[in-house]
Amino acid sequence: MSFDRHRRLRSSAVMRDMVRETTVSKKDLIYPIFVIEKDDMKNEIPSMPGIFQLSLNLLHEELKAAYDLGIRAVMFFGIPNEKDACGTGAFIDEGIIQKATRLSKQLYPDMLVLADTCLCEYTDHGHCGVLDDHGEVINDETLPLLVQTAVSQARAGADIIAPSNMMDGFVQAIRAGLDAAGFYNIPIMSYGIKYASAFYGPFRDAAESTPKSGDRKSYQMDPANRLEAMRELESDIAEGADMMIVKPALSYLDIIRDVRNNSNLPIVAYNVSGEYAMTKAAAANGWIDEERIVMEQMISMKRAGADMIITYFAKDICGYINRGG
Ligand code: PBG
Ligand code: ZN
Repeated sequence: MSFDRHRRLRSSAVMRDMVRETTVSKKDLIYPIFVIEKDDMKNEIPSMPGIFQLSLNLLHEELKAAYDLGIRAVMFFGIPNEKDACGTGAFIDEGIIQKATRLSKQLYPDMLVLADTCLCEYTDHGHCGVLDDHGEVINDETLPLLVQTAVSQARAGADIIAPSNMMDGFVQAIRAGLDAAGFYNIPIMSYGIKYASAFYGPFRDAAESTPKSGDRKSYQMDPANRLEAMRELESDIAEGADMMIVKPALSYLDIIRDVRNNSNLPIVAYNVSGEYAMTKAAAANGWIDEERIVMEQMISMKRAGADMIITYFAKDICGYINRGG
């Protein structure tokens, strides 16, 4: 016979397990949590079943649930009581994220806290930076506010700073600010490859961060561009990024692979809110096998080159793994 017998290695479950190239484990997962400043709230996000806006006084239950399932990394997003033009709530020591971070580090010191460093949840206009008189997001004036945000997050105990604002020079500015404050050992996980995507819709409902006017296309990337991602990657490496996030994930697996092939940095796939919503909606209708679809999606991100995955499915996945699935 002159053909290859590929089926030899697919003959049994044990054989397939032995030759499997990619795996997903609990240590790959980062779980995002929405923390709301008002008390006694546990609001499920309609488009994100199983995901809540949670008050600080109820946060310990969610942290315990995550911890007990085996999650060892969380990322907080804040919904503040007050918003203003420059996003003050993002960088005050009594900010909602700073409080959530302190609580988490006190209850579970070995669980990593990732801080999303951005202003959009705290600005009254909903943009990720400050605006000029014409409503344009101004780059260089925004940088010091991001630095203040990152430093206050580090002071609260954040283990990793993850800036998601997409201003130019943010990695360099934040690195310098962290170093000057003595936090030279805190890594920066850069969201430098972040597309202006419709897949963020459910997140903006959850985080109450939809821009009041305009869109984010002057700072987030055009979904049509691949080479541009390599330029973002190059500058972030030069500016001192320790890890690189690609966001969204599933429609951008080619970009994850490009980053893998063009850098030696650990890569993080952000499996965003719209990707979660679509899967949950189809599953709720009984149209798909949720567990199998979720795991196939996770495997595809890892196979594309991701080392870690930020995902709202983190608890579900730990449940599958703990059951031996
Ligand atoms: C903004 C930010 C966004 C997400 C996290 N931080 C996107 C945006 O509103 O532009 C999206 C996450 C998701 O959709 O799950 N700094
Ligand atoms: Zn933002």
